[in-house]
Amino acid sequence: MTEPLWEQERRYQTAAGPVRVRVPAKINLHLGVGPLRDDGYHEVTTVYHAVSLYDEITARPAETLVLTMDGEGADQLALDETNLVIRAVQVLAEATGRPPHARLHLRKRIPLAAGLAGGSADAAATLVACDALWGTGLGREELASIAARLGSDVPFLVLGGTALGRGRGEQVSPVLAPGRAWHWVLALADGGLSTPDVYRELDRLRAAGEAPSPAGSSDGILAALRQRDAAVLAASLVNDLQPAAVSLRPSLRDTLDAGVAAGSLAGIVSGSGPTCAFLCRDAANADAVARALEASGTCRAVRTAVGPVPGARLG
Ligand code: C5P
Repeated sequence: MTEPLWEQERRYQTAAGPVRVRVPAKINLHLGVGPLRDDGYHEVTTVYHAVSLYDEITARPAETLVLTMDGEGADQLALDETNLVIRAVQVLAEATGRPPHARLHLRKRIPLAAGLAGGSADAAATLVACDALWGTGLGREELASIAARLGSDVPFLVLGGTALGRGRGEQVSPVLAPGRAWHWVLALADGGLSTPDVYRELDRLRAAGEAPSPAGSSDGILAALRQRDAAVLAASLVNDLQPAAVSLRPSLRDTLDAGVAAGSLAGIVSGSGPTCAFLCRDAANADAVARALEASGTCRAVRTAVGPVPGARLG
């Protein structure tokens, strides 16, 4: 049987020295939040979409575990077990019977606590990097199941592309849609929002009858993806967490309004926020929206990105 390409890449990189893994951010095209479960998570139906804003992990052999970081928010990340990179090394080491040894460097471009799953992306990248470094040879499926222990979004960041997420988000299956690149503008905010806080705020708004009824199925967004029409996709974007994120951070309303006034097709809070994602017609439209958003003073920084892109990959 022919060895898959990514296996060949993995062997080559391990033999050649440092292992480099690039991992994207995610947005949610659809995020339907159901009731709070007994385990403290909410049942969700989501459509994940990986976009071209990347963190990068470099892994080298070592006699101990060393982590260094640079880039977006790196100075605010702890270097202990609360860091998902460290947790990922430990969980993979336990699962494979290896000592948790590696010299890791994390280059961050995805902001922290931004609703872009930056921490989950780093965990996914660490799993793929250490698996290659140690030569443990886990398949994508095995990696995904270890990933689920690290966080709800981590399995998706191993997979990438556009995928349906169920359960607490950890049960992912690829969405088969005809190929086309979607153009996004991401408005990054000052400071983050805590995911548990945003879920709790949604529960509070619902109990008070102040949140819209939960989103229905994800069929609308899946049909829109098949149509390959950006205006149709724009009209189908849904995020049940948006009212909660806006309630905790009312200035997000201004950001959303500014992105639409700038000529995007639609704006939505990404995941639990506070990043806002704007769908654009094409690359030129995205550049124009990005410039106008930068000038609007309603966000800290702006990035353009395309999706879907692959998940954590060597290279
Ligand atoms: O899975 P993860 O560790 O990323 O989740 C962080 C927190 O977000 C959870 O502890 C929970 O409070 C909230 N959450 C939730 N329902 C989900 C996913 C996350 O309530 N489906």
